[in-house]
Amino acid sequence: MAEIEKIQKSNIDPVFEQIIPKKNPKRANRNSPIGLFDSGVGGLTVLAEVLKQLPHENAIYLADTARVPYGGRSPAEILKINCEILNFFAGEGVKLVIMACGTSSAIAYQKVKDQYDFPIVSMIEPGARAALSVSKNKKIGVIATQNTISTHAFKKALPGAEVTEEACPLFVPLIEGGFIEAEETRKVAEEYLAPIKAAEVDTLILGCTHYPHLAGILRDIIKVELIDPAIEAVAEAKSILASCSLFNGDLTEGRVAYYVTGSPAQFEVLGSKLLGKNILGVKKIDL
Ligand code: DGL
Repeated sequence: MAEIEKIQKSNIDPVFEQIIPKKNPKRANRNSPIGLFDSGVGGLTVLAEVLKQLPHENAIYLADTARVPYGGRSPAEILKINCEILNFFAGEGVKLVIMACGTSSAIAYQKVKDQYDFPIVSMIEPGARAALSVSKNKKIGVIATQNTISTHAFKKALPGAEVTEEACPLFVPLIEGGFIEAEETRKVAEEYLAPIKAAEVDTLILGCTHYPHLAGILRDIIKVELIDPAIEAVAEAKSILASCSLFNGDLTEGRVAYYVTGSPAQFEVLGSKLLGKNILGVKKIDL
């Protein structure tokens, strides 16, 4: 085997030997949709930002509800799931994908970002940038899933800051269960935020896209700047589309197609409540 081939082969993650990243069979153009995905309703916080900042874009939202939560799954499993989802988006001919999932961004983004022929936006760098720009004392808190915290992805993206990280494994099941304003959720949040408060941070990154759904409760408990990475991530997606001249030429309101791997009815009910907009016609797919 030629030396260069050997080097290339050793850099390939074994997951890519099972799932080959798919090329975009339909050539993406200005009218192609943007893809967003998450394990469940978390990525709707990112979709809400797309609706604000990119109102004319069509989008495909995929909630992998059959496999939620991602937070405790092994990194190899997360990478495999990400490849399956990105292959689905390649088949749909998307022009860009936003990883509307902190866990995927922390674990899979670096490995998949150059494997597809559409740009992929993660939550990590944009979230870190936003936090650094607002923090005055450079003491920054990060709350996220166990998986994201284990990678220290946000911490690594916050050079020079004193970072306090806390995994909040119960938040996603509580949110997916619809316990957004429940007393139990408030109690759990108080426990999780105690070390963050003690560290006297002035800024807190909501490092899992589900957590902005709890912004009300979190704001009652901790009086600091809350950073929703979606705002900066969607701004990044917007600037990529601008630099590639890929804004939708049709200036009417964009359409969103929803797909789930679990129950469409359950997603429609909770998703509509959280997005504040009727979600209808959700389709079930197998990846
Ligand atoms: N909303 C995702 C994240 O940002 C996934 C959480 C999960 O499924 O555990 O991390």
